[in-house]
Amino acid sequence: MPLEIVVGTQWGDEGKGRVVDLLSEQAYISARYNGGDNAGHTVTIVEKIFKLHLIPSGFIHPKNIGVLGNGMVINPATLVEEMEMLKAAGVAVSPERLFISDAAQLITPAHRLLDGAQDAALGKSQIGTTGRGIGPAYVDKAARRGLRTGEILDLDSFKHRLEEHFTVMNHTLRVLYDHPGLDVQKTITEYMEKAILLQPYIRRIGPLVKSALDKGQTVLSEAAQGTLLDLEQGSYPFVTSSCTTAAGVFSGLGLGICPVGRVVGVTKSFQTRVGAGPFPTELFDGDAIALRGTGSNPWDEFGTTTGRPRRVGWLDLVLLRYAIEINGITELFITKMDILSGLKEIPVCVAYRSGAKTFAELERTADAASLEQYTPVYQNLTGWSENLREMRMYQDFPVPARDYIRFIEDQCGVPVRMISVGPERMAVVEKR
Ligand code: IMP
Repeated sequence: MPLEIVVGTQWGDEGKGRVVDLLSEQAYISARYNGGDNAGHTVTIVEKIFKLHLIPSGFIHPKNIGVLGNGMVINPATLVEEMEMLKAAGVAVSPERLFISDAAQLITPAHRLLDGAQDAALGKSQIGTTGRGIGPAYVDKAARRGLRTGEILDLDSFKHRLEEHFTVMNHTLRVLYDHPGLDVQKTITEYMEKAILLQPYIRRIGPLVKSALDKGQTVLSEAAQGTLLDLEQGSYPFVTSSCTTAAGVFSGLGLGICPVGRVVGVTKSFQTRVGAGPFPTELFDGDAIALRGTGSNPWDEFGTTTGRPRRVGWLDLVLLRYAIEINGITELFITKMDILSGLKEIPVCVAYRSGAKTFAELERTADAASLEQYTPVYQNLTGWSENLREMRMYQDFPVPARDYIRFIEDQCGVPVRMISVGPERMAVVEKR
């Protein structure tokens, strides 16, 4: 089946970029269908590290076509900068191979200001957003006053719409947040300078994707963020503002319902989270440093977009089973398996306890109110001391590492197909 979907099963940062990079070798189209430049997908090719925020990770493959779907929110300044970065690295960026939906929403500097002001005003209840204006842009979309990419094609009317937008946003910033607001004319000039550069790339993308599927060409769709940050089914209200699950692919790419070949769930071998919100298996002691790293390596657990240290904890199989269920995941790709080396014992959360009750499946949606009541029930697995970084064959893994993988499969009922053991493109072990 040609439609393939890659989703994160946790709170984002599972390593989807490298997974998509690998799978997109066989793909014709690589597409993003939700979120914006809050995402940070890292792809390491030889000694080059690409940090992508908007362009699908598979686009780095010369034979792939890149699509930015209508479910996305796009900041033209970030996108233009990313296009320039790729061009400078020798990646061909042209309207023949990069397509932006005309129905995606635009993020403006006013959305970014409002994002920061709103989150700061929440005080102790802050979400800890990435500050990229994601929430305010989706609010404008739902309120039916958002600016859309297609509007860039008519510059006179676009300028007028920007004037209206910045005037309203300045009013909100001044009245609600005591912020001086933006210089409207200067901001419009700067904004339009970037937006104009996107004109040749903007079009309706649904038919393009559909015709590829009809011809049997593989379309690889990459969800940004992770399942537990989904607006409806994640740890609400500590979530992002888009649909981060596999189901969003149809509306986010302007597609009708069609068969899906596989849904690959990308799962880190432990749990991480940036920003606030419930985290039942969170660690604060020495093991936390072992999992997070110190920041001296680019693959340590520090945010790609914000540089913030990530919160870390043990793998949570209750939440993984939930993610498998709501995404329809058909196979797992476990990342960062090498990081677990050196731990004597590895606790894995297999159930939750609340009062006298223990349960393995969530009884309620994984929102903050429900997750905050639970204490994890752990099963301790034996660790291993061997370094996995150079291993490329599953049989070479030490027995406890293979037992760890088998335990995940048994507990989740879904096969693990691949395991990454380092950041490099080739540092992947296939499990047949
Ligand atoms: P927003 O998407 O910037 O509104 O942030 C909402 C929440 O989602 C915050 O906790 C962010 O840290 C988190 N978040 C957003 N994008 C990502 C991502 O790509 N990786 C990990 N966390 C993210």
